Amino acid sequence: MKLVVEGLCKSYQRDGTKVLVLEGLSFEVNQGEFVSIVGPSGCGKSTLLKCIAGLEGSDEGLVSYQGNGDSQRPLCSIVFQELALFPWRSALKNITFGLEELRIPKRERERIGRKYLEMMRLGGFESFRPKELSGGMKQRVAIARAMAVEPYLLVMDEPMASLDAITAQRLQMDLMEIISQKGQSVLYVTHNIPEAVFLSDRVIVLTERPGRIKEEVRIEESRPRDLAFKLSSKFVGYLERLWKLLS
Ligand SMILES: Nc1ncnc2c1ncn2[C@@H]1O[C@H](COP(=O)(O)OP(=O)(O)O)[C@@H](O)[C@H]1O
Ligand SMILES: [Mg+2]
Repeated sequence: MKLVVEGLCKSYQRDGTKVLVLEGLSFEVNQGEFVSIVGPSGCGKSTLLKCIAGLEGSDEGLVSYQGNGDSQRPLCSIVFQELALFPWRSALKNITFGLEELRIPKRERERIGRKYLEMMRLGGFESFRPKELSGGMKQRVAIARAMAVEPYLLVMDEPMASLDAITAQRLQMDLMEIISQKGQSVLYVTHNIPEAVFLSDRVIVLTERPGRIKEEVRIEESRPRDLAFKLSSKFVGYLERLWKLLS
């Protein structure tokens, strides 16, 4: 299944005036592709993800999924910038939340939940509540929860923004591994350019608000990628190009 966004426009009403946030966005995320969205703060990145996830309506344009898929499988699942875990639930029960919504029987839920818990290197912490976990671990729980329902598209809004550099680096490496292995399609918002280059097949650069597509940069490097790519001159070349586009 691929995500198709066509001519998306979105505005908000504020004190009786209309503020245009997104203007005529069109792009696709193909099956198995990792696409990042970067752009100045306030240009509408989070709004775009909300429109795609169906949490906000749009003024104009279309968000659709094309291709033959299993109708039982959710189209999209989202990881927010601000942690949105249930404080009263354990790590495992946070991860299995979406599976309860899908009415998957308890034993199967636990099996799937534990699989994603292990995948996100949270083994041993299943009974811990969010307040007993570090920031990085909480973000791992949030990602595991979104992935556990096996959506066609995983949508992430700056999932590493609140993490320190070392924690973020580790999570990036794990994400690269898991997502590439599973062939998971991802739409990823970040303000961290090296992160976008490292993780993505394509980086879409948005303009200042109202957000329009300024340019799209294809990162020509097969995945999974390792640290060597991050240290290469090719990588720096991409950084240069993106920083120029954003300055
Ligand atoms: N619910 C809302 N009501 C009114 N204005 C909003 C709302 N959500 C976002 N905005 C405005 O839309 C613009 C884009 O916001 P957002 O999508 O959060 O930007 P980004 O994620 O790129 O930083 C901002 O100017 C913000 O003030
Ligand atoms: Mg945002």
